[in-house]
Amino acid sequence: MLLNRIRTVTELRSELDAHRTNGSTIGFVPTMGFLHEGHGSLLRRAREESDVVVLSIFVNPLQFNDETDYEVYPNDDALDDRIAAKYGVDIVFNPSVAEMYPDGTPKTSVRVSDVTEVLEGKYRPGHFDGVTLVVNKLLHMVEPTRAYFGEKDYQQLAVVRQMVADLSMRSEIVGCPIVRDEDGLALSSRNSLLSADQRRRALSLSNALQVGQHQFLAGVTDPEMLVSAVREVLESESDVKVDYVAAVDCDTLRPPNVLSVPFQLLVAATVDNVRLIDNCRVEG
Ligand code: PAF
Repeated sequence: MLLNRIRTVTELRSELDAHRTNGSTIGFVPTMGFLHEGHGSLLRRAREESDVVVLSIFVNPLQFNDETDYEVYPNDDALDDRIAAKYGVDIVFNPSVAEMYPDGTPKTSVRVSDVTEVLEGKYRPGHFDGVTLVVNKLLHMVEPTRAYFGEKDYQQLAVVRQMVADLSMRSEIVGCPIVRDEDGLALSSRNSLLSADQRRRALSLSNALQVGQHQFLAGVTDPEMLVSAVREVLESESDVKVDYVAAVDCDTLRPPNVLSVPFQLLVAATVDNVRLIDNCRVEG
């Protein structure tokens, strides 16, 4: 199948306007490419629920607080094309940095407060400002009926929901469950940067989340006690450096005094030089 790849905003708008005039619904999956079956699950859902499916592939320089991280971000056009074709994507929007930011660094910022100030926000200064700016631009360009985001980036999903609500944007934001490999590792484009040994150690993230769930089921309702049990699992693995472990309210992302279901358990850790995040909902 020949993919319909569009590189300019003008062309994207004129094609999507034609679909909208016909009354078609538009499902949108924004990505930074190097697609995997986690993205596949978003595309599948978009395909099921929309007349037209748009996939964007754009590695957004503004959301990388670490320049090296941007430089080594993996890409594979052939892989992306295969996954896009597999899930019946209608339009691949693949702009250049100059197309997205024609005047260089934009002078407008889109800053969501509160939910951005914890967890990732503390460890990746400026990251969410880059995410909200690009997602805002993409939503303006595509004007989708629904946009699909993975729960793997749980905080990002919360931030995007807040932005869309605060700015009365029309698109519905749909969160989709994490997809895991058989051994439990949450799918992520960054997994490709892991050696076999690092990958084995990276399993400590999903294992630690499981321990947290078990601790709660065994009666631990003190957030600090639960967090330290989870942290212990991560720290027992060599060269896994923990950024944070948090047991928080599912919406505010702030820790409660006493844990009660549902709550969200989130971890972020660096395995040698590869930073990974994972999370799960504890529902009892
Ligand atoms: O989750 C991602 O891949 C990115 O943060 C997103 C939403 C495509 C914005 O660049």
